[in-house]
Amino acid sequence: MKAVILAGGTGTRLRPLTLSTNKHLLPLYDRPVIYHAIEKLVKAGIYKIMVVTSPDHIEGFVKLLGSGQDFSRSDGKQIQIVYGIQNEPNGIAYGLYIAKDYVDDDDCVLYLGDNIIEDDIGPHVRAFKGGAQVFLKKVKDTWRFGIARVDKKGNVTAIDEKPAKASSDLAVVGLYIFDNTVFDKMIDQPKSDRGEYEITYINNKYIEEGNLKAVVLKKPWFDIGTIESLHDAAVYAKSKRRRK
Ligand code: TTP
Repeated sequence: MKAVILAGGTGTRLRPLTLSTNKHLLPLYDRPVIYHAIEKLVKAGIYKIMVVTSPDHIEGFVKLLGSGQDFSRSDGKQIQIVYGIQNEPNGIAYGLYIAKDYVDDDDCVLYLGDNIIEDDIGPHVRAFKGGAQVFLKKVKDTWRFGIARVDKKGNVTAIDEKPAKASSDLAVVGLYIFDNTVFDKMIDQPKSDRGEYEITYINNKYIEEGNLKAVVLKKPWFDIGTIESLHDAAVYAKSKRRRK
């Protein structure tokens, strides 16, 4: 299993913080945002990671992360971080497509770098047997998210984008596990009305095959894409540090 962390995008909702830097390089209390994604993946036993970002910010990531020398595995060996460049922020599916040759014939975790996830994802990574998995979190403000409908067997049957009237309270968070067919599903993918290659298009292909499983996260989850949620996540990180 390899992992792809998306750390591009425009970060418009975090302006002016993101006018001169990338949102994943911002501080989350005492560490840069992207550290959380890397540590989560390493803890899950994933040691080969591609960070995909924009040409404007690649230098900052290389300075910060290098080849991953500061992140230790449980067996003491080195992890390996490599980089991919997304020339324009034309969608999450496109960001993943950039890692196609890197992922090669492996399965992969797609981690949107602005997500802070507390659950241990290791058991799901180890139990993965093909198809795809989305991770869901119960939310109150369903109109802000992609909302999943899930059947009794834990299969996702539909994802409704920012529904006015939601059929569940389970939001799709920025973490996915895909088998290697994910790249075939991108062939002939059209851009959406907002001009992006959407990850929902890919998830819908798995739904059509009956191959999209749901995992509901139990612990706190933050998407630090707004000033308010970045602050909330930092307060949480501080309280966690104190408890240690
Ligand atoms: P978003 O928060 O949807 O987009 P954004 O980062 O551009 O922010 P804003 O809406 O405030 O302008 O992105 C979700 C995650 O995916 C985030 O970690 C950035 C990443 N991303 C890419 O790496 N490439 C892309 O083309 C897009 C759209 C997002």
